[in-house]
Amino acid sequence: MVDRNGWGGDRPVLTGSRRSPPPSFVEQANVTDSGIYDEFEANWPNCWERAADLLSWNQPYETVLEDEDAPFYRWFAGGRLNAAENCVDRHLEAGRKTHTAIRWEGKHGDRKTYTYRDLYVAINEFAAALRNLGVEEDDVVTIYLPMIPELPIAMLACARIGAPHSVVFAGLSADALATRMDAADSEFLVTCDGYYRRGDAFNQKSKADNARLKLAQDVRTVVVDRLGEDLPHVLGDDEFDYHDLRDRFAGETVDPVPRDAEDMLFLMYTSGTTGEPKGVVHTTGGYLSHVAWTSHAVLDVKPEDTYWCAADIGWITGHSYIVYGPLALGTTTVMYEGTPDYPDRDRLWEIVDRNAVDIFYTAPTAIRAFMKWGEDYPERHDLSSLRLLGSVGEPISPRPWNWYYEHVGNGECPVVDTWWQTETGAVTISTLPGIDEMKPGAAGPGLPGIDVRVVDESGAEVEPGESGYLTIARPWPGMVRTLYDGDDRFRTEYWNQFSDPDRGEWWYASGDAARVDEDGYITVLGRVDDVINVSGRRLSTMEIESAITGVEGVAEAAVVGRSSEANGTDVQAYVSTERGYDDQGEVRGAIIDSIEAAIGPIARPADVLFTPELPKTRSGKIMRRLLEDVANDEDLGDTSALRNPEIVGEIQAEIRGE
Ligand code: WTA
Repeated sequence: MVDRNGWGGDRPVLTGSRRSPPPSFVEQANVTDSGIYDEFEANWPNCWERAADLLSWNQPYETVLEDEDAPFYRWFAGGRLNAAENCVDRHLEAGRKTHTAIRWEGKHGDRKTYTYRDLYVAINEFAAALRNLGVEEDDVVTIYLPMIPELPIAMLACARIGAPHSVVFAGLSADALATRMDAADSEFLVTCDGYYRRGDAFNQKSKADNARLKLAQDVRTVVVDRLGEDLPHVLGDDEFDYHDLRDRFAGETVDPVPRDAEDMLFLMYTSGTTGEPKGVVHTTGGYLSHVAWTSHAVLDVKPEDTYWCAADIGWITGHSYIVYGPLALGTTTVMYEGTPDYPDRDRLWEIVDRNAVDIFYTAPTAIRAFMKWGEDYPERHDLSSLRLLGSVGEPISPRPWNWYYEHVGNGECPVVDTWWQTETGAVTISTLPGIDEMKPGAAGPGLPGIDVRVVDESGAEVEPGESGYLTIARPWPGMVRTLYDGDDRFRTEYWNQFSDPDRGEWWYASGDAARVDEDGYITVLGRVDDVINVSGRRLSTMEIESAITGVEGVAEAAVVGRSSEANGTDVQAYVSTERGYDDQGEVRGAIIDSIEAAIGPIARPADVLFTPELPKTRSGKIMRRLLEDVANDEDLGDTSALRNPEIVGEIQAEIRGE
């Protein structure tokens, strides 16, 4: 063992590129028995009762797993529970009324604290209001809100009355909202007047209005007044002010509706391999058990902690690890409205310091930015309250990993690099911080009970060190149950590629490539499908391409990922125009407008390259893989089989700025 940093005593040491969990952490960790892997293996699937035991059930389940109708698995069948009751009511009953549930940090320094009692009151009043508006059990309520407390309140109010929510990230466009509401047949919307973006008041209501115009169904809309005088708005037909509703139903309580474990808790739309977003269905019992268990075992959350996941609730990370996981465990969850660099680049550290945050969970794209800004910013603050650090959303390479470990964690906090997806619901690959060695650059082994395999095209496992497709060979409680768009798409997206139904083998295809080492540690290499991951956000290249080809004058387009220091991946677009559309500036502007209208500013390309033609095979297929290699300045191999090989050199010269 080499103590490269010269640390003594209690400090962890480097073992080659490995690090052991700091003893001070291990002493107090929730999970420290390394026998847990064998125990889960020996008792699978009943081992998952350990997760279900973290919850309160109105009616006990009869079986842990039903797999007769694979890949349509049923977890904890027969059990009944309510997610809002688990996240709020039971903590009041446990005498923790005045414990802080949500600590909200606003963009402009405004703050709010909701105790569990406050949260209980808010959720009940809003649940009563939703019922009064006509929301019934199983009705999908769409929520289109930025990071304000009304967002988790609305989610939990829905959960209380058994109405699945479908949260649409606030930065997505009116079209994207309309597509999701249409696909889910949603007749209820909770939105707001607007929110602050980089100091400016930004109109959200007008986007919601535009979306409603595109929908066939009538939509009853609740509007949260976030900006007051800064953005006056008028309510039209079927529109209701959130605060008026709360006043009208002040003091009302609504009994939590006991839901079947397999009843839908929420829908989350995510990008898939076609232009249409996928409606991922998560259920109540399995999902909540899995997020509670991983919050406990991986993030080491304890009720007395102040825990902060700096993600947006509009995506799965925020659902699982700002709202459901931490609240199920009765901890204090921090919710931050702003960005890491406003008003200054020490904003996050100021929040950690002031709130004495114990656990901090963020994305590699943020960590790379911190590293670029330099260690002066974290050094301005006392970060000694931190006990554990987490990373999620993209691969994190050793350099930012080490920077995070040293300059944020002071070498005293384990870093968990957690791999999971919208579809997995909760963490599936990670080290257990009180047990396992960390290897910067590798996420870790599959969690206990999660059977991760890296396979080749034929489904055979690859040797350690080789890369292949990341699959999961057994079901797990938080897994997607189906796609709202239909069971067929569910099968084709996830199960057809590697399963062998004749042998009863159902292997889940994650869409990621990975490598596994001798210890079973997984290094995730990135997506292998038509999804790109820009700053931890999933975008479909097909969806962006269809926004581009909708622009007048565009003949053809191809979109690929281009690796980027800051964002992990950037969007690179290649476009050829029709004759007569020579003003590239104008077409480029129209393309960007169209992408922003169809998806939102997050999908804006870093570069739009105009080319007379796109490289194609003899059968006329656009060679996207080749264009990806060109964008990443990689070796192209033999291109002579193309219909138009000469174009590749031209594009390459253009990309290289020659
Ligand atoms: C990527 C976010 C490497 C991966 C929770 C996955 C990661 C996609 C990691 C899911 C990680 C997530 N290391 N890659 N620790 N975590 N990913 O659905 O490509 O928004 O398939 O869920 O993010 O993105 P999603």
